Amino acid sequence: MAFPHKHLIDIREYSAEDIMMLLETARTFKQINERRMKKVPTLRGFTIVNMFNEPSTRTRSSFEIAEKRLSADSLNFGGSSTSTVKGESLSDTVETLCSYKIDLIVVRDRHAGVPRKIADISGVHVIDAGDGKHQHPTQALLDLYSIWEAKGSFENLHVGIVGDILHSRVCGSLIPALKIMGAQVSVIAPQTLMPARPDVLGADYASNKLDEVLPDLDVVYMLRIQQERLEGAPFPSLREYNQLYGLTQSRDKLMKPDAIICHPGPINRGVELDSFMADHPQRSVILDQVYAGVLVRMAALFLLLGGSNDGFDA
Ligand code: CP
Repeated sequence: MAFPHKHLIDIREYSAEDIMMLLETARTFKQINERRMKKVPTLRGFTIVNMFNEPSTRTRSSFEIAEKRLSADSLNFGGSSTSTVKGESLSDTVETLCSYKIDLIVVRDRHAGVPRKIADISGVHVIDAGDGKHQHPTQALLDLYSIWEAKGSFENLHVGIVGDILHSRVCGSLIPALKIMGAQVSVIAPQTLMPARPDVLGADYASNKLDEVLPDLDVVYMLRIQQERLEGAPFPSLREYNQLYGLTQSRDKLMKPDAIICHPGPINRGVELDSFMADHPQRSVILDQVYAGVLVRMAALFLLLGGSNDGFDA
């Protein structure tokens, strides 16, 4: 079956069937990543621009690895080394890049809405790699993939997302994605880091008390405290935040025996997550999430550029 989308910008445009097709394609790509020669000619002849105007470790490196493993040609572009610092507009930059007959732009930007604008200007495929406080759809897909691998299904699954709900683009995509797949979603945060209407994001339940919700959760998804986006001192100190909302070793006993721990990275160890929990051999799937980043990004590139779930050229 052909994939019915040109872009991956807003996860809310995807149905449960579309998301499942992506996850199943990602699982198919796992076999390539686990053999000695980790490269297939599937996207040979396609040119992809990775435009990162904001720092990234995981998203940028996993897109680059995904493109290399699919044999696409890629151009890494962005930040202070481009002519935007000389005043060139986004439109002129995108039109310049499109003159090279490129096929897809992966974009991260600190401004919400930039991926949609690039899609409108360029006419090529666009993947949002994180825009401002808005969305981060490939992060949501790799989170879903990791949860699906660990739990087998989204049915009757209670996922709690803990931390900076207000500033989180991860939440902007993950909450709707989990709801599309049928999971129950709670958000837990201090009042100052909670949106006025958590239900607008699609969450079923909101709480300011981690210890009340923790025993019911199958998946505990800890968000990073984004010190670069915080305004107005939303909590008295990082130490107090850790005591009230951090996943500390002492909270291990409050969790279900088979509950898992997720985090999008980068982690502030000792703030939202203690090292004991971040590195917990049974519970933590954080490095599985990083690996899933390569698999789901390979799947997204493949499907958006015309691949189908009937198979690929391996
Ligand atoms: N999770 C995430 O987007 O990480 P990076 O900022 O390192 O890409």
